[in-house]
Amino acid sequence: MAIGIDKLDFYAPNFFVSMDDLAVARDTDPNKFKIGIGQSKMAVNPVSQDIISMGVNAAQDILSEDDKENIDMVVVATESGIDHSKAAAIEIHDLLQIQPFARCIEMKEACYSATAAIQLGKDFLSNRPGKKVLVIASDIARYGLNSGGEPTQGAGAIAILLSHNPRIMELNDDSLSYTTNVYDFWRPTSERYPVVDGKLSKDAYIESFNTAWNEYAKRTGHEVKDFESFCFHVPFTKMGEKAFKTILNENVEDSIKNRLMEAYQDSVLLNRDVGNVYTGSLYLSLISLLENHEFNAGEKVCLFSYGSGAVCEIFSGSIVSGYEAELNKEKHSDMLDSREQLSVEEYETFFTRFDNQEFDFERELKGDPYSKVYLSNIEDHIRTYKTEQ
Ligand code: COA
Repeated sequence: MAIGIDKLDFYAPNFFVSMDDLAVARDTDPNKFKIGIGQSKMAVNPVSQDIISMGVNAAQDILSEDDKENIDMVVVATESGIDHSKAAAIEIHDLLQIQPFARCIEMKEACYSATAAIQLGKDFLSNRPGKKVLVIASDIARYGLNSGGEPTQGAGAIAILLSHNPRIMELNDDSLSYTTNVYDFWRPTSERYPVVDGKLSKDAYIESFNTAWNEYAKRTGHEVKDFESFCFHVPFTKMGEKAFKTILNENVEDSIKNRLMEAYQDSVLLNRDVGNVYTGSLYLSLISLLENHEFNAGEKVCLFSYGSGAVCEIFSGSIVSGYEAELNKEKHSDMLDSREQLSVEEYETFFTRFDNQEFDFERELKGDPYSKVYLSNIEDHIRTYKTEQ
């Protein structure tokens, strides 16, 4: 029986800073950020939106009462964990009022872990007819003020409901993983921000993609032309494009290259305006692709997931007839269009307040219709959430 993505949605915080403004403040040519890196805007999260509230806000509109009765596993993928022991999935399970006889866990491997969660969920469902799995990818990408990675920050969460007979995308049995031990990006438990070797991280991403693609093609017999489109992990929109171009070589007809590059541009429209959401970046890109590219039923999408350190995976999904009815394009464009633009000075204030966990509810809770849940207090290390503003 087919298993795959039945519903998916995302939440991005209500504030952003523009790459033009950031470039000017950092004495940099704006084209480096806008063309060289390929970003236009970067989501900025207030203290009151953490990985739990963002995860709930991503999932709240898509889950029906029937879904909540049948979800037997909730997996949160994150590299912005707020606890070494307790899984963020437990709070999310509670806030979403999912039936109690469910398994709740958190997974880690840099930006890759949402894919591990999806593959785990797919296997879990294979002998549980009628059951569902909720995967939440929720992250706050932070490199520090004035750091090399600053223009590749962002924040947001993606919610993915896996089921039998999915209405959006069937997941095929062709996944291939590749692991290599590299120190390109990591965050020791003592550190607030990650340690990054920017150039090595770009090279490691491309090397992982090439090695995995060659092995995937060898094992499955698939060629580039067999796919209607490719979808990449997008820490910044230029990254996936650079990797993709390495396999669009002389063996691929120009008409196919053009079709695939057009689809790639469709797949990064949301990422360009939200920024890096770490574990959710590939799936934000998938939402962007589904909302902006026209598919026929049965057409295949090749997905490349990458997490520094490094683990990557290539797998594919087949589009289900009627998938368009399950998308929320209007909601998403309104959510991004209605955000409040921060000056660089205000963004720096938000950033510092986040580090010090200093709430400013008057400023933070201003008009975000897409936030139904927010973090209202942390006392004795216990987090309290409110569901009404
Ligand atoms: N106009 C257009 N392009 C410009 C430019 C300008 N005025 N100035 C620079 N560029 C281009 C560069 O040529 C480069 O392109 P290339 O990668 O094709 O060579 C690109 O902009 C970035 O320039 P670079 O000098 O590499 O930037 P940087 O040293 O500031 O680092 C990152 C960029 C992405 C490595 C850095 O932001 C980072 O470390 N990010 C976090 C890690 C990450 O996201 N890694 C990705 C893999 S997971």
